[in-house]
Amino acid sequence: MLVLGIESSCDETAAALVRDGREIVSSVISSQVETHRRFGGVVPELASREHLDKIVPVVEEAFARAGVRKKQIDGIAVTAGPGLVGSLLVGVSYAKAMAYALGKPLVGVNHIEGHVYSVVFDNPPVQYPAFALIVSGGHTNLFLVPEPGKYKVLARTRDDAAGEAFDKVAKMLGLGYPGGPIIERLAREGDSRAVRFSVPRMGDGRPDFSFSGLKTAVAKYVRETELRFATPDEAEMSQAVRDLAASFQHVVVSSLVGTTERLAEVHCPRTLIVAGGVACNDALRAAASEAGQRLAIPVYFPSRHLSTDNAAMIAAAGTVRLQLGERAGLDLNADVSMRLQNLDVEDDALRRGRIRYRL
Ligand code: KG4
Ligand code: ZN
Repeated sequence: MLVLGIESSCDETAAALVRDGREIVSSVISSQVETHRRFGGVVPELASREHLDKIVPVVEEAFARAGVRKKQIDGIAVTAGPGLVGSLLVGVSYAKAMAYALGKPLVGVNHIEGHVYSVVFDNPPVQYPAFALIVSGGHTNLFLVPEPGKYKVLARTRDDAAGEAFDKVAKMLGLGYPGGPIIERLAREGDSRAVRFSVPRMGDGRPDFSFSGLKTAVAKYVRETELRFATPDEAEMSQAVRDLAASFQHVVVSSLVGTTERLAEVHCPRTLIVAGGVACNDALRAAASEAGQRLAIPVYFPSRHLSTDNAAMIAAAGTVRLQLGERAGLDLNADVSMRLQNLDVEDDALRRGRIRYRL
């Protein structure tokens, strides 16, 4: 089964052809990072305009690299949410038009489920029940996946996503965008014990993540120590900035992996999946691998190309749904706050409990 995947939920326009849900025939990603860099974050209106410019050449390129004609595909999978509405609509509208013109089946894919499937290309098959820790610029969730397609959120962020915290701390230090890779490079030569930040725990006892307090603690530290960081050249950054980056990164990683390990001891998953943009981070990879060893389960990461947003993961997730007979109609729409959780959903109970949540 040959499936075209299309992804345009945030600031990457991507198309990929994937065979049988496991083999990448071609994968093209056009990143808008240069467009958004000078604003220090994604500007939604600019993002959707650039998706409009790029969607046709990116899809054409995916077919050209694969040496495949459009008529040869068996279906189209497109990210339907969550994400930025203007960005999502470009991919969804394009996919619907193409499916209609070719008479091919179409399926809408949840972007976060796409990240879960990003590990299928470079790892042995996932054993269930699995854990999926999805950490990106927009999401930080730990899912229990008892069987393919079933998701229960075990822990989620109460405020900022982990990648967002990396980006905001980098911005605070004048380090550029996206912040994750820059902080990671500086942290390599820093002492993670230099600054003591605490791992936040929730007052209500839930195993959730919170990163905004940490961001404030970093800001306070910078103010109180009058840390000097104003140099555009990474090589000239002071040891104090490197130590701060390492200390910050250490807390984020400890929080993510510590919670995952504690919950794994309760739920006994057979595989741990770690995916999303922050899964590029080597400190997170090392800590998650060590936790996997202690738990005696394999830890699967996507390759770096597939850690950040891409369309191969969307095609892989969509293939499973197409094989199950799922079809989207031409009324498929972008759903900016699409949920992945479909087991024991407790959103209403949490809302009633007036706990501040990013559901
Ligand atoms: O998955 P992704 O491409 O987009 C979203 O769906 O959000 O993730 C982008 C996020 C950004 O916040 C970026 O700073 C973070 O992933 N990131 C990293 C690293 N590489 C990317 N965070 C920490 N360390 C990295 N090496
Ligand atoms: Zn993503």
